[in-house]
Amino acid sequence: MERKWWHGKTAYQIYPKSFMDSNGDGIGDLRGIIGKLDYLKELGVDIVWLSPIYCSPLADQGYDISDYYAIDPRFGTMEDMDELLAEAKKRDLHIVMDLVVNHCSDEHIWFRKACEDPDGKYGKYFYIEDHRPGDPLPCNWRSAFGGSVWSPLPGHPDKIYLHIFHRKQPDLNWENPEVRQDIYKMINWWLDKGLSGFRVDAIINIKKRLPYEDYPADRADGLCSIEYMLANAHGVIDFLDEMAENTFRRYDAFTAGEVFHEKPEDLPRFIGDRGVFSSMFDFAETILNQSPLGWYDTKPVTAEQYKAACFASQKRVEQVGFLCNIIENHDEPRGVSHYIPAGQCTVAAKKMLGGLNFMLRGLPFLYQGQEIGMENRRCTSIEEVDDISARDEYKVALDAGLTPEQAMEAVNRFSRDNARSPFQWDSSPNAGFSEGTPWLPVNPNYTEINLAAQREDPDSVWNFYRKLIALRNDPAYREVVVYGALEPYMPEQTNLMAYFRRSAEQTLLVLGNYQNTPQRAALPGTIRTVLINNLHTLQQDDGSVCLEPWQFVVLELEDRS
Ligand code: NOJ
Ligand code: CA
Repeated sequence: MERKWWHGKTAYQIYPKSFMDSNGDGIGDLRGIIGKLDYLKELGVDIVWLSPIYCSPLADQGYDISDYYAIDPRFGTMEDMDELLAEAKKRDLHIVMDLVVNHCSDEHIWFRKACEDPDGKYGKYFYIEDHRPGDPLPCNWRSAFGGSVWSPLPGHPDKIYLHIFHRKQPDLNWENPEVRQDIYKMINWWLDKGLSGFRVDAIINIKKRLPYEDYPADRADGLCSIEYMLANAHGVIDFLDEMAENTFRRYDAFTAGEVFHEKPEDLPRFIGDRGVFSSMFDFAETILNQSPLGWYDTKPVTAEQYKAACFASQKRVEQVGFLCNIIENHDEPRGVSHYIPAGQCTVAAKKMLGGLNFMLRGLPFLYQGQEIGMENRRCTSIEEVDDISARDEYKVALDAGLTPEQAMEAVNRFSRDNARSPFQWDSSPNAGFSEGTPWLPVNPNYTEINLAAQREDPDSVWNFYRKLIALRNDPAYREVVVYGALEPYMPEQTNLMAYFRRSAEQTLLVLGNYQNTPQRAALPGTIRTVLINNLHTLQQDDGSVCLEPWQFVVLELEDRS
C-alpha cells in the first residue's frame, strides 16, 4: 500500500453552528473557529472537517446549499474563510470542507431557473417528470426524512421533481455531463483557495437506478427505503472516478466519503491506492440493529455486536486502504450515550470506548465534544426538537401506535440534535458558547462536563484523548499505531474487546473490558510497557491481567507474541 501524507494524522469534525459563537447571535461562526485553532492544535489534531458553511436556507442545517461559492452570512464572510485557511496553515492544520453534491437547495439559482423553464438547460440539472395530480408517481421510494421522494415542481402543477432527502434538497442529475462539469469547476475553485480536501456527503445516492421502478413497500405508508434502489443502481464508481480525475487527484487532496453499503467489489476503487477517495467512514457500528420500521424499533447495541462490527470492518479493508473511524458525528447520537449501556456512562467507560476506537487501524476522526465526553441532550417534547429527521421519526413512532412519551424515548435515543447541542467550553452561562441565546439549548450537564474543568483534571476524558493522540504522534510508536496490522485477540471472550497492532518490530495489545464488572484476560506474552491505562493501576498475575470495570489499556509486549 502506498504511503499517503494524511495516513498518520488525527482528524476532527467541527459542526460550525454549535462550536463557538463570536458575535452573540447564538450561532457558531467562522470567527469562533479561528479563535479556537490554538485549542485544536493543543489537542493534537491535524485535519479539521467543517460541516457546511455555504449559503443556505438551513432547511437541513446547511446540507441544502443555495450558493457553493459563498459563505452564509450567519457563519461569516469569504474574508473570514480566507483568514481561517491562512491561520490554519500557519499552524500546520488542514481544513476540509463538506462537499454536498447529491443535491442542492431549492433556492439555488439552478433550481430556480429549472422552475422558470423546466424544458430549458436547467430543467436537465434535476430529475423532473410530467405528472398529473391523481396519477401514480414514477416510483414508491421514500425520502430520507419521510414521505415520497417526489414533490410538485413549484409553479408547475403538471410536473414533479425528485429529492432523496428533504423537498428543499432537489437531487442534481449526475447523468447530465454539464452538471458534473459545473461541480468539478466548483471543487477546483475551493482547492485552489488552499483547502486540503473534502468530506463527501451522501455520495452513493448520486447514481439512480433508471428507469424508475417500485420495490416492495416496507412500511404502512406503501413506500420503500431508498436502500433498495441503491442496491440495484450500478455505476456510481464511474462518476466518482471521473470526479477524482478532474479534481482531487490533481491536488493530492484528502477526501473522506460518506459511503454506505458500497458493493464489496468496488472497495478498492473507493479507497485503494488509486481510489476515488482517500478514505471513507466506517458506519458498520452506527447502523447496527437499524430497523426498517424506524428508530422506535431499534434495539440497543451490545458490546459483542460492537466488537464484531469493528473487526469485520477492519478485515474488509486491511489489504485495501484506511477507514475513518468514528464513534459519532452530527447525524448520530453521542457515542458514549449510544454504545455504553444506560446508567453506566462513567468517565472510565467513556475513555474505554474512545480508546478502543482510536487505536483501530485507520484515521481517528473525533467529533467536537467527543474529547470531553459530551452526552446526549434529552428533550421532553417534540417542540424542543430542531432535527427534521427526528421530527419525522417521532411521527413514524406515533403512527405505529406508540404513545407520545414512547415516541419521545426513541427521539431522545437517536435525534441528530443530541450531537448538535453547543460545545461545552466552561461553566459560565451557555457553557461559554455564546453571549446570546444559543440556537439549540446547551446540555444542562455543562456545569459538570466542560473543557475548562477537564483541563485542570489530569484524569479527565480530555487528558485521556490527548494521551491517545500523543501516542499516535510519538516517533517510537508511530509506525505500529498508524500502519501496524490489526489482529483480533480472543474475540470469543464475551465483553472483552481486544486486539493486537503489529509491525515488523513491535506488538501492541489493546484491551478493553466492555462491562461494569471485573474480568480476567489471559496474556499472550510478557508486558514490556503499559503505554496507556484509563485507570491508575493494572492487576497482573501469572500470565493474565484482571481488568476493572471499563478498564482500557494499551500494552507493549516483549518480542512478537
Ligand atoms: C448526510 C449529512 O451528514 C446529513 O446531515 C444530511 O442530512 C444528509 N447527508 C443530506 O445531505
Ligand atoms: Ca455567530
